[in-house]
Amino acid sequence: MGLPENFLWGGASAANQCEGGIFEGGRGLANVDVCPSGADRHAVITGHKKMYQMDKEHHYPAAEAVDFYHRFQEDIKLFGEMGFKVYRMSIAWTRIFPHGDEEEPNEEGLLFYEKVFEECRKYQIQPLVTISHFDCPMYLIEKYGGWRDRRMIDCYLRLCKVLFTRYRDYVTYWLTFNEINMILHAPFMGAGLCFEEGEEEEQVKYQAAHHELIASALATKLAHKINPENQVGCMFAAGSVYPYSCKPQDVWEAMLVEQENYFFVDVQARGYYPSYAVKRLQKKGVYPKMQEGDIETLRAYPVDFISFSYYNSRCIASEEQKTAEGNLFQSAKNPYLSFSEWGWPIDPLGLRITLNQVYDRYQKPLFIVENGLGALDKPDSDGYVADDYRIDYLREHIRAMKAAVEEDGVELIGYTSWAPIDLISAGTGEMKKRYGFVYVDKQEDGSGSLVRKRKKSFYWYQKVIESNGERV
Ligand code: BG6
Repeated sequence: MGLPENFLWGGASAANQCEGGIFEGGRGLANVDVCPSGADRHAVITGHKKMYQMDKEHHYPAAEAVDFYHRFQEDIKLFGEMGFKVYRMSIAWTRIFPHGDEEEPNEEGLLFYEKVFEECRKYQIQPLVTISHFDCPMYLIEKYGGWRDRRMIDCYLRLCKVLFTRYRDYVTYWLTFNEINMILHAPFMGAGLCFEEGEEEEQVKYQAAHHELIASALATKLAHKINPENQVGCMFAAGSVYPYSCKPQDVWEAMLVEQENYFFVDVQARGYYPSYAVKRLQKKGVYPKMQEGDIETLRAYPVDFISFSYYNSRCIASEEQKTAEGNLFQSAKNPYLSFSEWGWPIDPLGLRITLNQVYDRYQKPLFIVENGLGALDKPDSDGYVADDYRIDYLREHIRAMKAAVEEDGVELIGYTSWAPIDLISAGTGEMKKRYGFVYVDKQEDGSGSLVRKRKKSFYWYQKVIESNGERV
């Protein structure tokens, strides 16, 4: 009994949400830089408001974020102190290729991540690298319209080749795209897509998704070729979809939503478009254009493992019901659950259900690469945050995860909570929505000393890791 001895405990972040320094080190502008906080954010990230440059009227939280770019040594030291075995992080594409299609990479950007990996090594922390976490060079968006254009595949593979080669001695766990299914819900943030008036959005999204799926398969091929030790995973926003009632129509609608969500992983893990997707996309007239060899490529290079984020389950009703928020998805309000301050359902058993469903479906090793509670933290006069609510959330989810492994036989590589340190929210761009074990003195208006302080959950998580999940 118990979790495997080599279980990978840690935390997860994304470059655009923690690094800042967007004009430093020769870095180019990316889609995530021009997503403002405030009322316009939703329209921008969903591709319905074109914002290709920063203006003076908006606040752009990624510009400084929490300054990991200058403070990574201090931050990684704190991760080491918590006993992390793994740190999930992402690469800012435009640090390596500022435009995205240069012949040669930017050495300064490569050196930055090398230093980050060196720092991880000091504390025996293994990096788990997301190649693209909501990250696309603005130059490629202006030139090609983002992932709608097939030429993006070559640009992405150029990045992959550089990363796999240069960091061969540092990294063996890779994720090709963060939450690949988010392309359907936040297409500008997920894939650099901005829609023109009258455009068939579904068609553009599925075409772009196809390009990402091919890119992901070819990246897997390349990763294995460059280093046979490399383990490549897909990553999707998970969360079981419950029918609102046992009414068959509710069950049916829930199944449709679940299939839409699993579509990407079905392709990445099994290597082919599932028949439900072929039929439905064809019927809607949005089946993507494929090139000769695409079907074979998808077949030949499935992922080695499946990773996902889990924040909540969803609930689907065939008739209108009260709605609940969620990770960029809305759903019917589940009357049996409580909710976070941002209205996200809290459902630890849902994590166990999700783990079982995903494992049953694919029979490949799983990795939980995001799970956490976004909350308003109120430091006391010494700056200490007693975040028992976060501990409660994580404790229950970790218990559910353990049960899935110990009692249900799910094969799980590791768990990285979102996020080990406070950072910018992807959905809202807010700073006040905090997830960390480490508090960062940065406020919603951008003020603050950026000083880091350990929260109560920091010491709690340290014990969890030390006991390999026995003392939660
Ligand atoms: C996932 C993303 O969608 O959820 C993260 O991969 C994100 O980038 C996390 O931060 C939590 O969502 P939010 O909107 O609270 O930041």
